[in-house]
Amino acid sequence: PDTVSFYQAVGGEEVFRGIVARFYQEVASDEVLRPLYPEEDLGPAEERFRLFLMQYWGGPHTYSERRGHPRLRMRHQPFAIGPIERDAWLRCMRIAVDEAGLSDEHRDQLWTYLEMAANSLMNSWT
Ligand code: HEM
Repeated sequence: PDTVSFYQAVGGEEVFRGIVARFYQEVASDEVLRPLYPEEDLGPAEERFRLFLMQYWGGPHTYSERRGHPRLRMRHQPFAIGPIERDAWLRCMRIAVDEAGLSDEHRDQLWTYLEMAANSLMNSWT
């Protein structure tokens, strides 16, 4: 194809699966983040987030088939996300992104988006 999505360029589902699995591995032992997740099993949350990221970056639209419009601000409303939670989330994500073996350019592009998105989902300032 003459336009290759970011999803395809970095290696498709396998790469997203790896990043999100590594992220949730950190979340599982993070004392700030773990208590925010309502379910004991982080597996379903991991799958939702993986499918969302795949769709966002040009992969299959399975996320919206299952969940509808992402409405991320609305879906994060039940959780108080202040600077501490944002920083904890980005700390876990940084590890996952750094270990993914992306090119510098792809890593920077992904990271810029994730930082912006994490800032935009803050809903508490205490
Ligand atoms: C869901 C926390 C940032 C994407 C959730 C959930 C929590 C959470 C507790 C519920 C887990 C579940 O699905 O059952 C946080 C915190 C953040 C953050 C503390 C720190 C800023 C982000 C960012 C993105 C994102 C930056 C996207 C780039 C999602 C998605 C879901 C989700 C797609 C599932 C939505 C659905 O129900 O379909 N998040 N999140 N989150 N989060 Fe976040």
